[in-house]
Amino acid sequence: MTQTAERPPGDYDFVVVSNRLPVDRVVAPDGSASWQQSPGGLVTALEPVMRARDGAWIGWSGQPDLDFEPFDSDGIQVVPVRLSARDVENYYEGFSNDTLWPLYHDVIAPPTYHREWWDTYVEVNQRFAEAAAAASAPGAVVWVQDYQLQLVPKMLRLLRPDLTIGFFDHIPFPPYGIYSQLPWRTQIIEGLLGADVIGFQRVADANNFSRAVRRLKGYTTKSPIIEVPLVDDSEGVRVTAPIRRAKEFRPVIAKAFPISIDSASWEDLARTPSVQARARQIRADLGNPKTIMLGVDRLDYTKGIGHRLKAFGELLTDGSVAVEDVTLVQVASPSRERVQTYMRLRDEIELTVGRINGDFATISHTAISYHHHGYPREEMAALYLAADIMLVTALRDGMNLVAKEYVATRFDDDGVLLLSEFAGAADELSKAVLINPHDIDGLKEAILGAIAMPDRERSARMRSLRKRVLGNDVEKWSREFLDVLNDSAADGRRG
Ligand code: F6P
Repeated sequence: MTQTAERPPGDYDFVVVSNRLPVDRVVAPDGSASWQQSPGGLVTALEPVMRARDGAWIGWSGQPDLDFEPFDSDGIQVVPVRLSARDVENYYEGFSNDTLWPLYHDVIAPPTYHREWWDTYVEVNQRFAEAAAAASAPGAVVWVQDYQLQLVPKMLRLLRPDLTIGFFDHIPFPPYGIYSQLPWRTQIIEGLLGADVIGFQRVADANNFSRAVRRLKGYTTKSPIIEVPLVDDSEGVRVTAPIRRAKEFRPVIAKAFPISIDSASWEDLARTPSVQARARQIRADLGNPKTIMLGVDRLDYTKGIGHRLKAFGELLTDGSVAVEDVTLVQVASPSRERVQTYMRLRDEIELTVGRINGDFATISHTAISYHHHGYPREEMAALYLAADIMLVTALRDGMNLVAKEYVATRFDDDGVLLLSEFAGAADELSKAVLINPHDIDGLKEAILGAIAMPDRERSARMRSLRKRVLGNDVEKWSREFLDVLNDSAADGRRG
């Protein structure tokens, strides 16, 4: 990756703002450090837009208390925002991941409300907004990402009324009955309404948001438009463009744009001979069981890993499956490890895995092959190819891109996807075997059904899933969002 000196700030026509940067700081054993592009789909989708439009990406390096100068990374200006250790504790681990995360995921774990976490969330959002304001050229488009930065749209509009501002919420937006717990519920709604377009994963999320706007602000909503009165808007949001003042309200669009993956690149990877050889090797290393089941998740309580282990443990206990025939590979990548709820979850999951393996594994066959690491894309593609059944048992999930990655790699039209109806992906992937992870008996039946599914049904389902995933990739997602955002900017200019 080439890195060159930065260009002057205030010069960028397209600015992305997200909690994490699209590059990771990697320190080599000799102590030398460099930035490496992280492999996420968002970067892949936005890279061409950023190069074509003079793009800058604003975010945190992932490490506390370190200052980095902006730099050019393969044609994208990277602008690191500094977070102190206290910011990380209060804004990232605290308010983002111990207040908003559990609240927005249907309070699966109890959210914690601390006023000092909120104060830091406001401070850090202001810092991101100021960095975006400083990087943006006159009339630029700024796209803010995710729940860590929900106040940025309003803060940015105050600083720079000339900008067109988009926001995308990658996680669910909860029903009002849950959302209304939040002591700062009105401020968050006002923060988001600073955007011109607010994107959600599912129609239900957009509806939940509009309802919260009606309940808390009393604004008129005519889906997908929310009418933000200019007089109210002026409380905190200065609307200076004369053409906008001529209207009684500023239209804000709140709409579903289901995110996807770089589908073709996953398929290409799966087609490489080395990945296919590795998939065969994985099967052999597991003792060539008849059925390999796979779970791939961040180690997060929203993913329903415990439910899946319970179902598999019961199937082994009641003799419906034998350890020689069925192996579960569970990749649980480390996540948010300093947050209490995540520490407890790790203990619970690893205790359960240990018990099931202790009870059922033989010298030659493991019941659960458990991995507490992340893996490179090549290894993931090989695991997907090796897996006869993919288990996605999330209790609540914005989208679940793992489900889409599995489908994209299965160019052989084989494999069965078991998908929780509580993952956003279920709205699109209706040809998966849809399950309710809370219903353990239903989950067990679905697993047995998947093991016994006839070839013809497997391939018919997979063909239909592949059509959806290959036809709706992350590039299309970003294009559709940015088209709506650009149209809303053009409407604003026309008045
Ligand atoms: O999906 C929500 C999200 O916060 C993403 O923004 C992020 O890529 C992922 O979860 C991992 O979270 P974190 O940045 O906290 O490690």
